[in-house]
Amino acid sequence: MRFSTSNGAGLVALAALAFPSVNACLTYHDASTLATNFGLLVSSYSQKLANETLAPDFIDYSESVNTLIDGGGDAPVALLGETFSSRAAYESASATQPSVPFAVQNIWYNCDTITVRWKSAQSPQPVIGISVFHTVFKLLNKPVQYQIDEIWGEFDSAAWLENLGILVPASRKQKREIAFEA
Ligand SMILES: *[C@@H]1O[C@H](CO)[C@@H](O)[C@H](O)[C@H]1NC(C)=O
Repeated sequence: MRFSTSNGAGLVALAALAFPSVNACLTYHDASTLATNFGLLVSSYSQKLANETLAPDFIDYSESVNTLIDGGGDAPVALLGETFSSRAAYESASATQPSVPFAVQNIWYNCDTITVRWKSAQSPQPVIGISVFHTVFKLLNKPVQYQIDEIWGEFDSAAWLENLGILVPASRKQKREIAFEA
């Protein structure tokens, strides 16, 4: 077979055959693998998995994470600002974080976006969250041809702050006051 410029249409068709899934949508396998891998980044972080799962220009928005970083209040991180502005920023923060439990509860997905409802079985309070992953197609030499380039995730940060011992629940504060008055 010989290709020439007059055979451009044939080349396009051949390229489409060689890369059949360029315009394809996420499959259940892609969505569940990305959700599982994201969970593993939370429960047992590794930079290798972060590199595979997240796109280099990854961005993460989460008022819940910002409020955890601030320990409540709105400083030093602006509550509505970007949480991580690149994969490298995410990686350096994650490398120093203690692991927390993470279990996927539900997955919904469409062509390029995955919504995950998850549970972190912390103590004393469980934390439920919902994270939305926008994905980009990459010709990776991997079972999953997508990476996450944007995450919007929110969760019960009051429960998490209580688990960290930073927030004292109103019910316990009241008990303290009663004990003090008695
Ligand atoms: C992850 O990717 C960065 C570049 O973005 C590279 O410097 C680093 O060595 C990679 N780490 C692993 C474990 O693959």
